[in-house]
Amino acid sequence: MSEQSQPRLSVVGTGYLGAVHAACMANFGFEVIGVDVDELKVKQLGSGQPPFYEPGLPEVLDQALESGRLHFTTDMAEAAAFGDVHFICVGTPQSANSNAADISYVNAAVEGLVPHLTGDALLVGKSTVPVGTAARLRDVSQKLAPEGVKVELAWNPEFLREGFAVADTQRPDRIVIGTDSDSADELLRQVYSNQISAGVPYLRTDLATSELVKVAANSFLATKISFINAMAEVCDRAGADVTALAHAIGYDDRIGSKFLRAGLGFGGGCLPKDIRAFMARAGELGVDDALSFLKEIDDINLRQRSRTANAAATMLGGTVNEKVIAALGAAFKPDSDDVRDSPALDVAANLHLQGANVRVYDPKAMVNAAAQFPTLDFVDSAVEACAGADIVLLLTEWNEFVTLDPHELASRTAGRRILDARNVLDPAQWREAGWQYQGIGRP
Ligand code: UGA
Repeated sequence: MSEQSQPRLSVVGTGYLGAVHAACMANFGFEVIGVDVDELKVKQLGSGQPPFYEPGLPEVLDQALESGRLHFTTDMAEAAAFGDVHFICVGTPQSANSNAADISYVNAAVEGLVPHLTGDALLVGKSTVPVGTAARLRDVSQKLAPEGVKVELAWNPEFLREGFAVADTQRPDRIVIGTDSDSADELLRQVYSNQISAGVPYLRTDLATSELVKVAANSFLATKISFINAMAEVCDRAGADVTALAHAIGYDDRIGSKFLRAGLGFGGGCLPKDIRAFMARAGELGVDDALSFLKEIDDINLRQRSRTANAAATMLGGTVNEKVIAALGAAFKPDSDDVRDSPALDVAANLHLQGANVRVYDPKAMVNAAAQFPTLDFVDSAVEACAGADIVLLLTEWNEFVTLDPHELASRTAGRRILDARNVLDPAQWREAGWQYQGIGRP
């Protein structure tokens, strides 16, 4: 602990999670240092320019930098010497050749930080990791600690959503702390005192439970989405409407209406890789059967992408070859520039491979999308994408697409066909304007 009464914080890894956490904690009055191996990112953050799009982040970052309490560095030794509490916020992507999580960045963060510690410290993992990782890292860090330095470890899973990262960090719906140390618990209650006094529930668990809370939550969310998408498949065949069905079952508060939007399914850097990593870990633990249903959840989800591409072909008379297709959206969800495992881009790339001329437009994700699929045709606006198009695909429900005027757009396209893969448009309004409207799981 430093001399001051407030612990000083370091945040290792400055992606969506770390950058937002660092800025928000500085605004709550803590001295914070953010550390990352990426020099450009550190430079951008240090000058108030987030390297990714996240609503509200530029404002909280500016405020934190102006306060003088937030700094960024690439120097791990500087961060180690600075902080009393070190948050590990690095990514745990899917491994290149298996379903398991790649935790090499988490290992590298701990191994890079701990030998440089100059005083007693608490490591707090926020990254999503396979159960058992935290206990192993606790032992590793105690071995790596310099002579005379006491290191403790806690796990504090993060539940923020991209697009709402700032609000979710300032006022999460719960704080979960896994630790076997009372002093770690006490210190973290101090670190989160602002949130706790605002009424945010603070739950202490053991290490393994805290790791599992995170993957269980994401698995449940993924299951809800795939459940309603399975219903959409049945609705399609039965001539029923999945949006009305979701609305009706949602009134039962045991079910709830959230995360029951049928459509193109889930993507992003979390849900898909987390359910796969969870299955892989269950296999290692010898309980594969307990999570085999998640394979079905993954399959239902991926099927929505091919179903959407097939629906486009059907609307075009059986083939997309040489057809002009407007693809509205590339990000995995609106209010984000993230294209990791994006269903929208997947559909666009699939149709391109089938010989279509696909014109993609996204309000924020163009640069990331072009880096991933450089052969797609990227244009500067929704109207430009739709000009002369045989069909319009709404793939990510950005507000600027939801509010498109069907009358105005009608004269610009070659064929008035719209496939609303997120079920966000009013079918009656589009049909009345002369469009052939098709949703997912809607008659
Ligand atoms: C998700 C979780 O919601 C967060 O709680 C968690 O902290 C985060 O993963 C993480 O592990 O870091 P996020 O990936 O930002 O957050 O996105 P979500 O809002 O969960 O959406 C995921 C995907 O599901 C998107 O592609 C979205 O379009 C899709 N979705 C969501 C649906 O298809 N239908 C729905 O009803 C809801």
